[in-house]
This record gives sequence, C-alpha cells and structure tokens, in this order.
Amino acid sequence: MSDFDYDLVLRGGTLASAAEVFEADLGIRDGVIAAIGRGLRRGREEIDARGRIITPGGLDSHCHIEELGQDGTAQEESFASGSAAALAGGTTSFICFLPQWKGHSLAASAPGYAERARRSRADYSFHQIITDPTPEVLEREVPALVARGIRSLKVFLTYDPLRLTDGEFLQVLATARRLGAMVTVHCENFDAIGWRIQALLKAGLTDPLQHAWSRPPVVEREATHRAIALAELADQPIQVFHVSCEEAAAEIAAARARGVKVWGETCPQYVTLSHDDLRAPDFAGAKAVCSPALRDRAEHARIWRRIQDGTLDVVTSDHCGFSFATAKKAAGSSAYGTGAAVQRPDGTPAFNAIPNGVPGIETRMPVLFSEGVSKGRIDLPTFVRLSSANAAKLFGLAGRKGTLAPGADADLVLWDPDRETTITQSRLHHAIDYTPWEGMAIKGWPALTIRRGEVAMREGEVLAAPGSGRFLPRGPYALAAPSGRVPDGFDAAAV
Ligand code: URP
Ligand code: ZN
Ligand code: ZN
Repeated sequence: MSDFDYDLVLRGGTLASAAEVFEADLGIRDGVIAAIGRGLRRGREEIDARGRIITPGGLDSHCHIEELGQDGTAQEESFASGSAAALAGGTTSFICFLPQWKGHSLAASAPGYAERARRSRADYSFHQIITDPTPEVLEREVPALVARGIRSLKVFLTYDPLRLTDGEFLQVLATARRLGAMVTVHCENFDAIGWRIQALLKAGLTDPLQHAWSRPPVVEREATHRAIALAELADQPIQVFHVSCEEAAAEIAAARARGVKVWGETCPQYVTLSHDDLRAPDFAGAKAVCSPALRDRAEHARIWRRIQDGTLDVVTSDHCGFSFATAKKAAGSSAYGTGAAVQRPDGTPAFNAIPNGVPGIETRMPVLFSEGVSKGRIDLPTFVRLSSANAAKLFGLAGRKGTLAPGADADLVLWDPDRETTITQSRLHHAIDYTPWEGMAIKGWPALTIRRGEVAMREGEVLAAPGSGRFLPRGPYALAAPSGRVPDGFDAAAV
C-alpha cells in the first residue's frame, strides 16, 4: 500500500467547470481525476494552485495539421510541433482531418497520415473529410471508420476540388444519420465566390484585401441556409464550421428556434481580426487570409452576442499550417486556395492563390480567455463550454474530456488570470513563421498544462514528448440525436 492517496494533488485552486466555479483541491491518480474536495489527503507530488484558475484542458475540434493536399501542397505544421503549440496554449486534445483526395478511396488518400499523427504530444482524433462520396466510400469505408471511433464527417461546400454538390452532400448526411455520426460543414457558395473572383481580377484588383470582397457575408449566409435546409431534410445533426458573421449566425439561430439540430462554431480570428489586417502593407495582409473571410470590425460585437446567446457554442482555432513565406510564393491553386495564380508586378500572387487559413492552435485559449473572461464578455463556465466541454459533447468525448469530475481524464490548465503579456511569434511553439496576433495585449495566460495527469507544459516549456499523445476513439454525440421528424417508414439512408 502506497503512503500516498494520489499521484498528484493540486491544492487550493479555483476550479472552473462548465457549470460552476469553486475552490477545492483536486487529486489525480493513474491519469484521471480521482477526487475533488477540500482537505484532500497527500499526493506523491503536490502543486500549490492558490491564485490559479483551473479549467479542463482545451479540446480544439477543428485544426489542420500536417495535411498533404492532392496537388502536393504540404502544410508545414507537423504533429510534433502543432501539438507542442497546443499544449503550450492549454489545449490537451484536438481533432484534425483525415483527407480524401478526389477520385481516390479514403484508404488511398494521403497514405500514412493517421500513422504520422502518432507523433502527437496531445491526444487527438480525426474528422473524415468526404470529397468523393462514392458507394464504396459511403457503404464500406465510412462505416468501418465509425466502428473505429471516427464518428464525424467533414464536407466543404466550396474549394475545388474539395466541394460537394448538394446531391452529394445529401448522400453524406443520409449516411451519417444511419451511422450516428456528426457532420461538420464549411458553408460558402463556390460559384458565387468564383464569379466575384473573376470580376475582381478583371478589374485589376489583386491585393489580399480582395479576398474579403470575393466572399462577402451573403456568400456564407446562403450556403449556411442551404446546408441547414438539406440537413433538416435529411434529419441529420450538423455543426456549421467557422461562422464569421451575424448573417450566418442568424440562420443557425432561426433553425434552432424551430427545433433543427444545428450547432455553430466560431474562431478567435472572427472576434479579433478584421479587414484592417488584410490591408497590412507589403503583402502582409496575406497573413490574415482565411475563409470565411475576416469581416469589418463592427462584426466582432455581433459575433460576441451570438457567443453569449449560445448560438455559437464552440470556439476552435481552425489552425492552418501555411507560413507567410509560403504564401508569398504560392504558384498555383493550393489545397485551400480558390483559383489559379495570377502574378502581381512585385512577384507576389493575387489574393485568390494565397493558401487560406491562420495559425492559432496555441493562441486560441489565451485570446478567448483574455478577450472573453478578462474583459467580462463571458464567465468562466462559458469559457469552459466554448473551449472544451461543448465540443466534447458534440463529438463523443463527454465524460472523458472537457470535464472536471472523478473518472475524467486529468487534462487541466492552471491559468494565471492576472498575468499581462503580449503575443509574439518568438514565444510560440508552432512551425509557422508568423502569428496574426503579433503584439496583441493579453490578460490571463496558462502557467501549467496537465495532460492525463502529467505536467505537459510548465511556464512555456513543453515537457510532453512526441508520441505521448493518444488516439481518442469517440462515442456517439451526446447532444444531438436526430429529431425523428421524418415520415413513418422513410429511411433517408436508403434514398
Ligand atoms: O481559411 C481556412 N479556414 N482554412 C482552412 C481550411 C478551412 O476552410 O477550414
Ligand atoms: Zn473551412
Ligand atoms: Zn478548417
């Protein structure tokens, strides 16, 4: 019998769960939370957590790591570097994407990707991207994935060659319904964007700001409306990814009000960055090219209101691993670009060939804490729901991740809520050569990250080794059973 009741005790911290905030000790044994209460008995190791806020470790349910596009475009973020960045910013688990290359089976797309993920230092899972929903994919490969605990699909309504037609999307929805899998959707109207891009290029408008004019809010609103309508028709729950504007959020709110199972995700970039960042001189606006595009600053308050009213209930990074140096050289349509490259006189590419996406896996939680909690826009339980608990419920990790309760994985962040600091590239752990939040003042920073009971990051030093993260097989979604509102005898999957 050991002399100690726990492997590790965090003493006297302020615990913030998805529901409440209270002072207590927290005892960890064998990588899981063993007890929460006052005056816990001794641990082999003890950490004085007085003055710290303790939240569940973050679950970033939307990030792109080490993806290899069908055209050979490679993201520079590796699983080792991306997961180091995640842990440094308080994120202990993430969900990234298994690609499907058009014309290929799932098995033949990006060979070895799942094996490379074993280098992760954080726990991880995958959404399966579907770009080519053949009968073989939907009837054989997707069921096999779901059986392995990969229980969510991702579809794009834009980008070539990733996008699906409405008919293909319906087939994916019907398959997901049959299997009890969640569907996540990138909602923008591909043809509308293409039409705008051609008009802008013809007018000689090529700088990074034109990215925003090529895909204004109506383009997102239309596709969000359509995605929800088709999901309603198929009676399949969906999560709308990276909502950037009130027009799209209002579609989600209206659908929810009539009982449709639709959830909305947003990202820190949509409440902190704006057209101003796209206007940065010397092509630096390329650092802020993401899709949906950044909006006017006035949009920030509207997105915060939708976070506050629960329409947007998950905040992810949508971390994307392209460096500024890569964007400057973009030579053709890339994995997340929207057209063939046109060279500008200074040698940089036109806006439509800039790879889309910003790096934010490390800054996601600090920015949300600082802009949300420290500035009084959200309370601590809301912060926990947005950064981990709601994604855990939606993606089948409830009870294990995003929760402070005995039996849950001991994934924890000890926040120094009063620390005032500045985001700067030199302190970050990602493999990308910039951060779009350079120079941003932050109040509240993770001092310590614990992953399954082990100290994985202490004061900016990442201690977890590559390969120490674990694959997370996931269960059915806990929040989102289909409504059953389909005619008797109707089997959408059979259609
Ligand atoms: O601009 C973005 N969001 N890039 C990543 C790919 C995607 O659309 O999620
Ligand atoms: Zn997307
Ligand atoms: Zn994404």
